[in-house]
Amino acid sequence: AALETIRNFSIIAHIDHGKSTLADRLIQTTGGLTAREMSEQVLDNMDIEKERGITIKAQTVRLNYTAKDGKSYVLNLMDTPGHVDFAYEVSRSLAACEGALLVVDAAQGVEAQTLANVYQSIEHDHVIIPIINKIDLPAAEPERVCKEIEDVIGLSTENAVMTSAKSGIGIEDVLEAIVRDIPPPKGSIEAPLKAMLVDSWYDPYLGVVILVRVMDGVLKKGQQIVMMAAGTTHLVDRVGCFRPKLEYLDALGPGEIGFITAQIKEVAQTNVGDTITDVRRRTNEPLPGFKTVQPVVFCGLFPTDAADFEKLRDSLGKLRLNDASFSFETESSAALGFGFRCGFLGLLHLEIIQERLTREYDLDLITTAPSVVYKMLLRDGKLLELHNPADMPDPSTIELIEEPWIEAVIYVPDEHLGSILKLCQDRRGIQKNLTYVGGRAQLTYELPLNEVVFDFYDRLKSISRGYASFDYHQIGHREGDLVKMSIMVNAEPVDALSMIVHRGAAEARGRHMCERMKDLIPRHLFKIPIQAAIGGKVIARETIAALRKDVTAKCYGGDASRKRKLLDKQKEGKKRMRQYGNVDIPQEAFIAALRMG
Ligand code: GTP
Repeated sequence: AALETIRNFSIIAHIDHGKSTLADRLIQTTGGLTAREMSEQVLDNMDIEKERGITIKAQTVRLNYTAKDGKSYVLNLMDTPGHVDFAYEVSRSLAACEGALLVVDAAQGVEAQTLANVYQSIEHDHVIIPIINKIDLPAAEPERVCKEIEDVIGLSTENAVMTSAKSGIGIEDVLEAIVRDIPPPKGSIEAPLKAMLVDSWYDPYLGVVILVRVMDGVLKKGQQIVMMAAGTTHLVDRVGCFRPKLEYLDALGPGEIGFITAQIKEVAQTNVGDTITDVRRRTNEPLPGFKTVQPVVFCGLFPTDAADFEKLRDSLGKLRLNDASFSFETESSAALGFGFRCGFLGLLHLEIIQERLTREYDLDLITTAPSVVYKMLLRDGKLLELHNPADMPDPSTIELIEEPWIEAVIYVPDEHLGSILKLCQDRRGIQKNLTYVGGRAQLTYELPLNEVVFDFYDRLKSISRGYASFDYHQIGHREGDLVKMSIMVNAEPVDALSMIVHRGAAEARGRHMCERMKDLIPRHLFKIPIQAAIGGKVIARETIAALRKDVTAKCYGGDASRKRKLLDKQKEGKKRMRQYGNVDIPQEAFIAALRMG
């Protein structure tokens, strides 16, 4: 297609404001099939079954639209992942577009989560068209929402479009606004090939499918390409686009968005943001903004049933086929047995993977408390990155520890402001800003990520009865007074429960853990001390009373071996126990302690 007839845009929206409904309408109006119609068709047409995986995942759609000016246009609607954990992927999708539709629910208004994407979109010099959706609702207040968009974002709403995606109102106006307001892409067909790898996923029939945006030159079947950051070369064997049904093309020219396949087996071999060029005629400079994403939150995943270890390994491997941004390696814990230490882009990412393992792969898992990545300078000058509190070196060898910080933007109704401020303060937050936007407070805080992964989000939601919203990005590592706290049962440290905490918070958290473990461990024939300790110094202590009087215990003393056998039997059975010294801790106790965060 000629450059001036192409429009590339994404849709920014808060969950539930109507992004999918609007996208469906745009597809329908321009003659494509909606996701629902497609999956219906999949059911009666076995040929399409082969394309199922690819088409369902492909939310980037090419639409043909004949505008009121009589010209036909090619509109590429690019889907962007919705959550802050995938900020880098979002940034690459945005870099592939020249504009964005900002969908705002006319009865709700601007939400903090959308702001991050809006600002990114502005940074990419996008033209943003505000779409005030759900104007059919009785509670719709389009003027108030427009004013909020102007006040909060500083975006003019002169060109805003009023829609009801549900009842099909204003859809033509959206299409016209896209053609009129979003600039066509720039690029040169003569220049050497320069294309961005926007996204990739694994398809069982086609292998790895790569979504690309061509900047300059032409990308075609049979071409030898090189991925500049990865340094790998491949032969392009298919080129195409989604309408949303898969359609093969001969080539993609400048400004165009589409997909290629090149007999690549794993998404781990592709890097989002990488520059694709021609092996024989290379572009001089790669596209700006490339980076490799690193996991920021780590936790241990253990099967509750040790027999599921291999199944867990397989399942993690399968998930990684389609998501190279999480990592896993085997880990063994005295308390939990064999499992995996996994790294994620953020808490939501962690939850998604955990949820998929549970639901799609039917695994019952124990997740250890999430931990962030600490950087340490040791006395001997060595630098260390710590992903697992259990691996913390002896404190006397550590010169300093740094922890990651974030900047969080929280939106909260006024009546809950006081308790949210307290929550942030309790979590070592530094207040940066407090303004009011349409009756809601917008709070900006700097917080240690360590305090946020603990249970911040749950607390935020419960304090505000679900009304607060939260968005964050990392702002680098800072030195902190951090210590490793161990939980000891009968003087033995329990590895799965050790954590890195700020010294000031250690005592309260230690006491909390001891109290909890006290309720979770059954009584034994002897007293069991439960202690929280920092480097050998006990900071909290609870005691589980003995089950019987000591006299009786003595009488049964000789039966130790028989009792041991009995316990061994128990261990094989349903009720699995872990032994700490001579204390048997039911596995449920760890699960409960860890689940409560
Ligand atoms: P996620 O897919 O969860 O991110 O949400 P989304 O932003 O894609 O929203 P979706 O299109 O799924 O719409 C959310 C809900 O709002 C659905 O129940 C829609 O039927 C409804 N909805 C969407 N547009 C309109 C509208 O114009 N008017 C009304 N009344 N409801 C709408």
